[in-house]
Amino acid sequence: MKLLDMFKLTGRRAVVTGGTRGLGLEMARGLAEAGAELIVASRSEEHLAAARDELLAAGAPCVEALTADLMTPAGATEFCEDVLRRFAPIDILINNVGGRRVNFPTEDLPLEDWQRILDLNLTQAFLCTKLIGGAMLPRRRGRVINVSSISGFVAGKQMRGRSYETSKAALAMFTKAVAADWAPHGVTVNAIAPGTFLTDANRRWFADRPELKTEIEATIPMGRLGEPREIAGLALYLASDASSYMTGSVIVIDGGRLLW
Ligand SMILES: NC(=O)c1ccc[n+]([C@@H]2O[C@H](COP(=O)([O-])OP(=O)(O)OC[C@H]3O[C@@H](n4cnc5c(N)ncnc54)[C@H](OP(=O)(O)O)[C@@H]3O)[C@@H](O)[C@H]2O)c1
Repeated sequence: MKLLDMFKLTGRRAVVTGGTRGLGLEMARGLAEAGAELIVASRSEEHLAAARDELLAAGAPCVEALTADLMTPAGATEFCEDVLRRFAPIDILINNVGGRRVNFPTEDLPLEDWQRILDLNLTQAFLCTKLIGGAMLPRRRGRVINVSSISGFVAGKQMRGRSYETSKAALAMFTKAVAADWAPHGVTVNAIAPGTFLTDANRRWFADRPELKTEIEATIPMGRLGEPREIAGLALYLASDASSYMTGSVIVIDGGRLLW
């Protein structure tokens, strides 16, 4: 097979959690352009409807847009069971949902917030991997891609809420451990660790505090934040046959941020 043909996803079905905005939408768009059938999930009907139109326009032969709240283990389990009941078999799973959400120093961080952020970043990714990824094992083929963060390697200077760093680091290690278990079964498990990208939430944050954007840019050798579209090629590589010999890798994409 020619190299560029290995990136084609015709006939493959992909689930992208939180595939309606930000990095998730751009990863889903990359898969759509390669011909994948898509299932995207998020909380807002409005975001889902807009994403569905965009992904069909990008080339996905079909798009299922599911309302789901993955913040709780019960919500994540219900989502996975629904996906498997209605849309199995799934070839590609991108566990993209996550976020920091709280900004308290550890000495003031309520246990409930700690638990909530671990559930949002780690427990739901475990459940989706277990249920949707686990269903790939008998077919001896599949791709699981977890979205970690460079915050899994370094503590953020500008914001607190250390449950975020902790959960992203744990997600990276979970990726490696499961990759080892599932390698003999033909299912690869990798992670993407993004630096700071210009997503809507970050744009709002920088609109309130423009000095922070300048401060963060000064820590990045490339001197700028990532555009969400710049993550799509890496997601497509990991989702496709082109990455057939890669498993258990946590790939940093950060404009060189971790070099300094
Ligand atoms: N942006 C960055 O600079 C950056 C850097 C490092 C790592 N990351 C990681 O990359 C991932 C995506 O980040 P992002 O900045 O693109 O996030 P975002 O702009 O906040 O988008 C998150 C997506 O997830 C959905 N979502 C959020 N909470 C959900 C929930 N409880 N249940 C179901 N869907 C939910 C959102 O849709 P609804 O609002 O409709 O639910 C949206 O589609 C996260 O895991 C984040 O930690 C981001």
